[in-house]
Amino acid sequence: REVLRKELSIDAVMADLPPLIDGTREGAQRVAEIVRNLRRLSFTNPGGAEMFDLAEVARTAGAWAVSGRKSRVNLEFDLPESLNVRGNAGAIHQVLVNLVENALDAMEGVAEPKLKLSVRKEGVNAVAVVQDNGPGIPEDCLLKVFDPFFTTKPPGRGTGLGLWISWNIVKDHGGAIEAGNQPGGGAAVLFTLPLDPLKPRRQV
Ligand SMILES: Nc1ncnc2c1ncn2[C@@H]1O[C@H](COP(=O)(O)OP(=O)(O)OP(=O)(O)O)[C@@H](O)[C@H]1O
Ligand SMILES: [Mg+2]
Repeated sequence: REVLRKELSIDAVMADLPPLIDGTREGAQRVAEIVRNLRRLSFTNPGGAEMFDLAEVARTAGAWAVSGRKSRVNLEFDLPESLNVRGNAGAIHQVLVNLVENALDAMEGVAEPKLKLSVRKEGVNAVAVVQDNGPGIPEDCLLKVFDPFFTTKPPGRGTGLGLWISWNIVKDHGGAIEAGNQPGGGAAVLFTLPLDPLKPRRQV
């Protein structure tokens, strides 16, 4: 029996089992999260394009995401009275919530977390920026953060789909999104949306 045990290296297999089971559990947790996250994708379809006020959506998304957290955050808005853009308000709300959630996650270890949401008009575009005073995004991650499933968070905390979904939504609106760091520290994620992607109609 001893011989058989050695031959089949049962001990080695047994030793491997606990981490394998842990890995499976982690995998299952990730899959459950992914399924939950994929529901967010249904918002990607900008089919319901309408005129909406980006300043209003930013105000609601910021306040809503912050209110869902226990820790206190200094939330600052720099918004125009209103700024109308054409697109899917629900989808853009989702983008802003994703960016704010990321900022709040990043500032978890910060004593005085500060979050700033800005919206402004720049030529033919509307620009929205979410700034935080967290540790920022490591240089070598700046391009990867938009990849599907890229995450630095432990299972149960992130799937790495937030920025990928946001990138898709913004792209579908004819805009662009980029992530960077501020000179004074902290991350800044910016996206643009064309104010009116429809060509002006010919006067009759
Ligand atoms: N404001 C930020 N400060 C620092 N790192 C950030 C910030 N925003 C995003 N990141 C980095 O980019 C990664 C990808 O972000 P993304 O929103 O796509 O996924 P996630 O937040 O990890 O998970 P999910 O959004 O699916 O819950 C994060 O894990 C984090 O490493
Ligand atoms: Mg996220």
